Amino acid sequence: MKQILAVPLLAGMFLTACKKEMKVKNHTYGNYDAVQIRHISLDLKVDFETKSLSGSAILDIENKQSANQVILDHKNMDISEVQVDGKKVGFEIGEYDTVLGSALVIPIDDSSKKVQVFYKTHPDAEALQWLSPEQTNDKKNPFLFSQSQAILARTWIPLMDAPAIRFTYDAKISVPNHLMAVMSASNPTGKNKEGIYHFHQDKPIPSYLMAIAVGDFQFHNLGRNTGVYAEPGMLDKCAWEFADMQSMVDNAEALYGPYAWGRYDVLVLPPSFPFGGMENPVLTFATPTIIAGDRSLVSLVAHELAHSWSGNLVTNETWNDFWLNEGFTVYFEQRIMEKLYGFDYAEMLTTLARGELQHTVDDMMADPEQKNDTKLFLELDGRNPDDGVTDIAYEKGRFFLRSIEKVVGRDNWDTFLKNYFKTHAFQTMTTEKFIAYLNANLLDKNPEWKSKINYEEWIFQPGLPSNCESMKSKELERVSKSIEIYKTDKNPESIDTSGYTTHHWLFFLRNLPALHATDMQKLDERFGFSSGGNSEILCDWFVLSVRYKYEPAYEAMKQFLGHVGRRKFLLPIYKELIKTPEGKEMAKAIFKQYQSGYHAVAVNTLKELLGE
Ligand code: BES
Ligand code: ZN
Repeated sequence: MKQILAVPLLAGMFLTACKKEMKVKNHTYGNYDAVQIRHISLDLKVDFETKSLSGSAILDIENKQSANQVILDHKNMDISEVQVDGKKVGFEIGEYDTVLGSALVIPIDDSSKKVQVFYKTHPDAEALQWLSPEQTNDKKNPFLFSQSQAILARTWIPLMDAPAIRFTYDAKISVPNHLMAVMSASNPTGKNKEGIYHFHQDKPIPSYLMAIAVGDFQFHNLGRNTGVYAEPGMLDKCAWEFADMQSMVDNAEALYGPYAWGRYDVLVLPPSFPFGGMENPVLTFATPTIIAGDRSLVSLVAHELAHSWSGNLVTNETWNDFWLNEGFTVYFEQRIMEKLYGFDYAEMLTTLARGELQHTVDDMMADPEQKNDTKLFLELDGRNPDDGVTDIAYEKGRFFLRSIEKVVGRDNWDTFLKNYFKTHAFQTMTTEKFIAYLNANLLDKNPEWKSKINYEEWIFQPGLPSNCESMKSKELERVSKSIEIYKTDKNPESIDTSGYTTHHWLFFLRNLPALHATDMQKLDERFGFSSGGNSEILCDWFVLSVRYKYEPAYEAMKQFLGHVGRRKFLLPIYKELIKTPEGKEMAKAIFKQYQSGYHAVAVNTLKELLGE
């Protein structure tokens, strides 16, 4: 009986799987081969009461293959009407998928030019976080920000949501008149009385770079084409922290060619922002946790700035090619850091990252389900592209590019990269196209280079190739020596920490031997870790506190978990907590208490981790 039933059931499942496979490629329902989106005009009202954006999006389309419909992505929004060239049309909504949302199918003909969708977003639109005044720095006004990467733009704009598709945009945004709006476009530098703001992005960008923020912030100019936006109460601190921003832009241009986006500004968001930074064109969004008071975490700005070339100019065509965005960017970030702060400092940061990469690869290789995700080229079809956001794309990607640099020499490599960005500006790049370009413009010149680099292994094999360099940094050697001494006497007084920067401390914490709670206590008394103000150091300290059951730090840890929503900090602490049954209870309780303050991106990850 069971078996007879199973046959049609399986056949049915197979059919839907095929249907899905055929229809949904590269995480979009969009029929972009047939119909191209050229431009989007947004007209939206921002309402903090209902936590909604409402209005319309007009999409300028080009029907290249005489298609009789245009298919857009959308997720969790109410669509009230659709017009094609000013005439109301019927539309269809496809089946809902928890990752992809649904298709919005609109009838068109050969001559159709403008598709206008009237819609309203849901309060739980995943891209948008609506913050109460208490969740901001100044605690006076509400705040809204978006996070579209990877495939969340579809929760606030109906569009074809894949990085292969580029369009220009303009927007008219109405906000409560004591607030200001900014986007990934030309921006105002002050408020206006009407609360109506106009934006233009005249360079074609992919959907994941659509961005908006609304709040009470002010602008501070930092140089020729750089500046910072932040809440008034922290603007001066932010401006001080980012004093080197103009020099970063100038040095980046000297390395890999002209900056293509006009201005480069940074908006500092409230602490619930789930990422460190997001490279929204013209206006990077950044976490306030990099405002450390000593400029020690500004490599994040170098990173987001570098995306202005790797990512925003030359864009990964699919999320499988994500390493082309992030690996190149980490490499470029390090080159900017080296130019500004010198070789030793940049090598220290890279050495620290090399250690993290090793941990990630060891962990992932030990788990059969994750092993394949240690390849640079990913297989994310049918999965959430968020699964590809690991150290692999970033750090394995960076060390791959460093190994090419080592083999071909810096001059050849820099010339290659400069041409790569110039030749493919405002285009998308696949791993395959990159390999062909690398061969044609560099490796074919010298067969020995090709075999030394062995890109096949780096890109298509799991784990780290044997030619992945191991690193040494003079500065960190010093820390290692101190740790050796500390191991013998467990006496914090014997550690010479003069001249330690954030990164020395991180290396220190990450390389300590196994400890008892009493040792943690002594370290805390000597160095004041639990009451420190540097979020990177706090994160590592709290992980150790959980591991060694150093309970006096738990209160500070809970406060940290309630205040900071950056996933990179939340995840290691929650992960350490759930290793014991008591810890897991505590993790669940803390999550329950603070979940409403976290961004959807962080909530999704934590729910999966906690099995909720
Ligand atoms: N583009 C990423 C953030 C991202 C990636 C968001 C994938 C959603 C999906 C950004 O440039 C980034 O890499 N941010 C890092 C900081 C960086 C210094 C490594 C982060 O947020 O930690
Ligand atoms: Zn990045």
